[in-house]
This record gives sequence, C-alpha cells and structure tokens, in this order.
Amino acid sequence: MEINHMSKKYPKITTHVLQEMKSNGEKIAMLTGYDYSFAKLLDESGIDVILVGDSASNVMAGHVTTLPITLDQMIYHASSVMRAVKRALVVVDLPFGSYQGNSKEALQSAVRIMKESGANAVKMEGGKEIAESIDRILSAGIPVLGHLGLTPQSINKFGTYVVRAKDVKEAEKLKEDAVFLENAGCFGVVLEKIPAKLASEVTDSLKIPTIGIGAGSGVDGQVLVLHDMLGINQDFSPRFLRRYNNLHDEIIKSFLSYIHDVKARDFPNEKEQY
Ligand code: KIV
Repeated sequence: MEINHMSKKYPKITTHVLQEMKSNGEKIAMLTGYDYSFAKLLDESGIDVILVGDSASNVMAGHVTTLPITLDQMIYHASSVMRAVKRALVVVDLPFGSYQGNSKEALQSAVRIMKESGANAVKMEGGKEIAESIDRILSAGIPVLGHLGLTPQSINKFGTYVVRAKDVKEAEKLKEDAVFLENAGCFGVVLEKIPAKLASEVTDSLKIPTIGIGAGSGVDGQVLVLHDMLGINQDFSPRFLRRYNNLHDEIIKSFLSYIHDVKARDFPNEKEQY
C-alpha cells in the first residue's frame, strides 16, 4: 500500500516543518488519535499531525461534551499515542479547566503533558482572553497550537454547535484573535466550523499555518475526528464530515460472525487449538 509520498521529504514532522509546508503551499493532514494501536496505523500511513483531542471525552469515554475529561486522562491518551509514533507531530489538547483561569496552573498543566507523555505541543481554545496562559506556556518553550471559531469547551456559553463567526462582529474578533495568536508565537491555528471565506481570509493574513475543520478548502491543512471519518461513530453527520469508511458496519459484521461461530461450535476448529 502506498503511504503518504511526502514521508520521505519530511522524515520527522516538527512545528518548523509545518511552517515550511505552508511556505511551499503543501497541505497539512491531521487526524485525531487517542490510543497506541490507531496511532501506529496513523503514523505508518504518513499522517503529518496527530491531535490527541479532548474529543476523547466524546468518542472514547462517551460523554456528551468535551468538558469532563481530566488532565490525567489526557496524559494517559497522549502517552499511549506517543509509544506508537515515530514521524508525526503529536499535539495534545489542554482540557477544560486546566488553563483558562490562572496562567501558573496553565503552565503546570502543559508541563505535565510534555513531561509525562513526551508529546510535542499543546493546543488551547481561545484568543486574547487566554493571552497570559499562552504567553507563560510559550515562554517555557512549549509549542502552542491555537483554536478559534467553534471552541467546544465553551459549549455552555454558545449553547449550540452551529457555525460560528457568521456575523461581522464575531468575524472581526476572530480575525484579530488569529493575528494575536500569531504574534504571541503560536505555531498554527485550528479554525473550527466557520465560513469558508472567512477561514480563507484568515489563512491569507497569517504566516503560520491554519488547520480547518468545517472551514472549507482555503486553509493550510485539515483535521477530522478519527472515529467520525472512519464511520465508527454514525450518530454525528455534520455537512463538513467526509466518511472514508463504514467501520461501524464492518465491525458489527465481524462481531456477528464471531458470535455465530462460537454458538455454532465452529470456532475454534482443530487448527486453532493446542
Ligand atoms: O478535540 C478535538 O478533536 C479537536 C478537533 C475537533 C480540532 O479539537
């Protein structure tokens, strides 16, 4: 099977490589990952960035929002991913409550992620309102990926997961925040669920790469949640989601065959025993 042909050009992805990719007009491919086995497959296929997203709260733990996941749980997922990865850049979400209030606590949370998982960078939701925390973390030499637009950790403020920044005021704030994040020293910005035109304008105005999810094609890279793009999770069908498989049905088929074989005394056969 042919792996990502850029793997040879970039044998190890760093934040500097992502910058180079933007300068060369090469798109960045990012997916979420939460465990060793999938991270190994992602890395083997030549994915550029693995995001240990706090979407683990949804797809791994079954919570309705990303809010309940803890720093310890994020570190557990990130460490599992790191044991598998040789090439990809691994970015870990700082979970809700671990960085918003107090910049000292934010630094402690980021340091714990870096020390205990060995990951390469952290991601934080928000713009100017978390300036102090971003600054402290960057000052400690920890790369930060920003996240603007639909920021799921603020779902209780938004009240809904609809497209963000459709009105001029919110779009202006988003543009300002994007420039702020670049000037602060972030190595990139995730733009989630915003109009494609706005995402494209923001991308053109920044030197650092933008990674879109539901933000159209005018961004520097794309990210999707692993379980959604593999079709494991069938409950979530936003317009921006492209499903690359229907693993839900494939997996159910395998389970049904196994159950059938066990019940019919077909498994194990003579060759499958000692
Ligand atoms: O947690 C996550 O999976 C994310 C992506 C949706 C960008 O933040």
